Amino acid sequence: MPKPRSVYRCTECGHEHPKWVGRCEACAAWNAVAEEPVLVRAAVRGPAKRGVRAAGLVAPPARLREVATRPLERWRTGIPEFDFVLGGGLVPGSMILIGGEPGIGKSTLLLQAAARLEAAGRTVLYASGEESPDQIRLRAERLLNEDAGAVHVLGETRLEAILGAAAAVAADVVVIDSIQTVYTEALESAPGNVGQVRECSGQLMRFAKESGTSVVVVGHVTKGGGIAGPKTLEHIVDTVLYFEGEATLDYRLLRTTKNRFGSVDELGVFSMTEHGLVAVPNPSAVFLAARADGISGSAVTALMEGTRPVLVEVQALAAKSGYGTPQRVATGLDPRRLAVLLAVLERRAETSFADLDVFVQVTAGVRLSEPGADLAVAAALLSSLYNRPAPADVIFLGEIGLGGEIRPSGALERRIGEAARLGFRRVFGSSRSGTQVAGVSMVGLDHVGQLVRALAA
Ligand code: TYD
Ligand code: MG
Repeated sequence: MPKPRSVYRCTECGHEHPKWVGRCEACAAWNAVAEEPVLVRAAVRGPAKRGVRAAGLVAPPARLREVATRPLERWRTGIPEFDFVLGGGLVPGSMILIGGEPGIGKSTLLLQAAARLEAAGRTVLYASGEESPDQIRLRAERLLNEDAGAVHVLGETRLEAILGAAAAVAADVVVIDSIQTVYTEALESAPGNVGQVRECSGQLMRFAKESGTSVVVVGHVTKGGGIAGPKTLEHIVDTVLYFEGEATLDYRLLRTTKNRFGSVDELGVFSMTEHGLVAVPNPSAVFLAARADGISGSAVTALMEGTRPVLVEVQALAAKSGYGTPQRVATGLDPRRLAVLLAVLERRAETSFADLDVFVQVTAGVRLSEPGADLAVAAALLSSLYNRPAPADVIFLGEIGLGGEIRPSGALERRIGEAARLGFRRVFGSSRSGTQVAGVSMVGLDHVGQLVRALAA
């Protein structure tokens, strides 16, 4: 009889400790380590190889070339942006995690996808521990333009019951809303506990693989930004999507951070309406729609979001500081990157932001996570400093080094192509990039000093 032992697991990051500690060794969180009983299988102690094989403990491996393969099947959800970030649709037998803050629209998106999958002939089970079936029906009727009447719903949080129901209706797709509300009888701890979340996810993953069902789980994100409690959940599943957006804006961004069946960092854009989510097929146009001509402190750049170029506006405001230490506020980019760019502009191009408050933001809740946006940030800063609008037909593409040198950014042709499509005619970029795109002229720069002269003139 295996005897229970305990592990001590961090409820923040899932790191396992052999004994209780006050502070997690992995993520340094205080008072987050909790005891978690586990069952250990009887250890296989030193039997000869033959004995192990006889006990059925060895599975015969196959040569790679002998492994049977099938073309990857995809079930389209019928929501184009959702299918796009998934890499073409749901893969049978895969498990997908959708993370996001409460209220961002995860349940609405999945209910909408469930309705369209049913309409396309798939059987979908939508299990919710957050809302009762009548609440789900009311939401569907109030919000969705399409008929969700065929979707199977279940107000249940016991995993065994959910899996039983999935088998009973022969579901192709199972939605679990949310992983933090389900529990398995195998553990005594409460739903949402890190052990429960891990165990339920493990069982769901096995269920998906064995039955060929596509399992989609919702995970609420805590303030820290990770999926509540166990980051480990991200390692278990095949695909991780994050649903994000500024609470005050009607855009929602769906982003892939992990995908065993497609590329990562793909971005899908939705607008939130009273009839549910509507895919935005042309994000660049939407992100630039609110851009006012002739305003200083604005510059446009093209980011690579996965395989797709997206144009965004960077806005900067440099204003006389009322206090001793000027403020530096960055929204949508790393404040340290802003500090570096300000230092480079001061030291390498003889500009001064020393007694100015500096605010930089990126439109539509997008993040500038690549250095290729440096030039646009610098251009927005300089444009605000000199109170001169940057030319409206110019897009800025390039990275700025500590010496003030300007380096080309990658995937230039695709970025410039997208800019040309939206009416931009000139690119300010590194003189070292030889890229040419029809209809667009390149203005090559070597150093930030040249950018200063171009914008101050
Ligand atoms: P909901 O899907 O419940 O968010 P989550 O599951 O992530 O917590 O959406 C929150 C609220 O917003 C809900 O009352 C419905 C409303 N909503 C709309 O009115 N239109 C939309 O397009 C979306 C996505 C949500
Ligand atoms: Mg919800």
